Amino acid sequence: MSATVLQILKVLLLCLWSVSATSDVDWWESATLYQIYPRSFMDSNGDGVGDLNGITSRLEFLKEIGITAAWLSPIYKSPMADMGYDVANFTDIDPLFGTLKDFDALIAKAHELDLKIILDFVPNHSSDECEWFQKSVLREDGYDDFYIWEDGKVDPVTGERKPPSNWNSVFNGPMWTWNEQRQQYYLNQFLPKQPDFNFTNPQLRKKLIEVMRFWLDRGVDAFRIDAVPHFREMRFENGTYPDEFVSGFTNDTNHYQYYTHIYTKDQPENVELLYEWREFLDEYQRLHGGETRAMIAEAYSPVEVLSTYINNGTHVGSQVPMNFNFIPLNNQVTAEHVEYMAKNWMDVMWTRHKMANWVVGNHDNSRPATRLGWQRRDIMTIIAHALPGTSVTYYGDEIGMPDMNTECTPSNCDFRDPVRTPMQWDASKNAGFSAGNSTWLPVNPNYKQLNVQAQRGIARSTLQIFKSMTALKKTAAFKAFKKEGGFSFGALSKQVFQIVRTDAKREEYRVLANFGSQFEYFDGLTNKTMEYVILTSYSPHRIGERVDLSKRILLMPYEAVVLRWAA
Ligand code: GLC
Repeated sequence: MSATVLQILKVLLLCLWSVSATSDVDWWESATLYQIYPRSFMDSNGDGVGDLNGITSRLEFLKEIGITAAWLSPIYKSPMADMGYDVANFTDIDPLFGTLKDFDALIAKAHELDLKIILDFVPNHSSDECEWFQKSVLREDGYDDFYIWEDGKVDPVTGERKPPSNWNSVFNGPMWTWNEQRQQYYLNQFLPKQPDFNFTNPQLRKKLIEVMRFWLDRGVDAFRIDAVPHFREMRFENGTYPDEFVSGFTNDTNHYQYYTHIYTKDQPENVELLYEWREFLDEYQRLHGGETRAMIAEAYSPVEVLSTYINNGTHVGSQVPMNFNFIPLNNQVTAEHVEYMAKNWMDVMWTRHKMANWVVGNHDNSRPATRLGWQRRDIMTIIAHALPGTSVTYYGDEIGMPDMNTECTPSNCDFRDPVRTPMQWDASKNAGFSAGNSTWLPVNPNYKQLNVQAQRGIARSTLQIFKSMTALKKTAAFKAFKKEGGFSFGALSKQVFQIVRTDAKREEYRVLANFGSQFEYFDGLTNKTMEYVILTSYSPHRIGERVDLSKRILLMPYEAVVLRWAA
């Protein structure tokens, strides 16, 4: 056989192998997800607020940085008491963001670019300005018990009326709000302007499925399901609600943490909804074809609870319960903490479901560049993309935007504003986010240096590292994560975290990340000589340089590297 024929055979075999290695991986299993906060991403009309046409105009950027699917925080009609998480009309776009036509154009462009669009589905509550709530207040036919209405308790001595239970809402203050018109209390797990739906009502459940169908018909690829742990509450058969117990965490009686949440969070019935929606989504796919319409569930809950979201042995639910284990990590973080948090997930979720995802940041929590410390801004990007499964990145974190202290009082702003400032595209007016005279939140003044355009031109910038990692994630060694022995991870020392990814003895990648401010060295990590392929700015090495790991490897403070070996 000639050398050319041999070469062709080798290539063919490799192709066949890589198809078989990756074909058992559905798109959501090894994706790079990107969260867009629509108000802050790109303003197309100069009103200082981001919008759909703005997003459409920036979709190529998502392609450039290797994104699989973009999740849009709510874009529905809303009075914006909770920035869109208070939905007034579930099947219309808020004029601030544009129109349904704009949305259709966004989807069309995204699909043209082979990008998926994930919508935020907010089924736990609506706005009090939603027509359904207003009909419910009036006890209109069919809407009477769309929400959770209760008379409350009347003190036999004073005659004073009190809420049905002592529950505090997630945003503090009572979870029950009195409605003068209907002369009853309604339940609100979040703001009083976000009344909770009554999921025991089959009509409501039908309506929510119709909402999902509406958006699927417009081409939406997946949903991020908001606030899953809060769907249901404990109610006794006699109609009363049990008080929760004092937790001892705070003396502030209004605070959410004042009570433990055994009756208002993670109720076993919550998961039924996920199973119901999954059945609908699978059926939709059977009827309409196309790829899996996935459900990404938001839940700050223990892994044992999240495991039931995926399945309980008889039913299947959300494919991707979000993994928030890296969110509490702060500037005291060590490699050992990371190992502990990663193992907490993997020991249950990987062992049982072969499923992992790694959320680096979101619109509710301090940004990684601030939370973990500026020096570690690239380390989490590397780790979240090198671990098996799906990565979830919040807009701006790919360039290391920090939190910005916005000057405001609790009454005129949201405690999460510091992580919602406008995207920093370039050094022009308003960071290229808006041509308007002002923006809804101020642009961080650091934008002149810290922006997409500047980082495109800097080797080892946060953006370049992000792009390199998303590209790496698409290679065979990273895709073959379901294979036995395909990966390992752990703390090599208190400060150094290691991840190894291998592709059937053909190729190996090794990540070494030093979280600490001291030099670290390791002798004889493996008998391989490896090549530096990705380096952070703290590294004294060069791309393409080689290191014999049977001897010694040295890591500078905060240095993170990706090494490669090929047979
Ligand atoms: C989720 C959202 C958060 C919102 C809350 C109520 O936690 O991420 O932003 O305020 O639900 O809808």
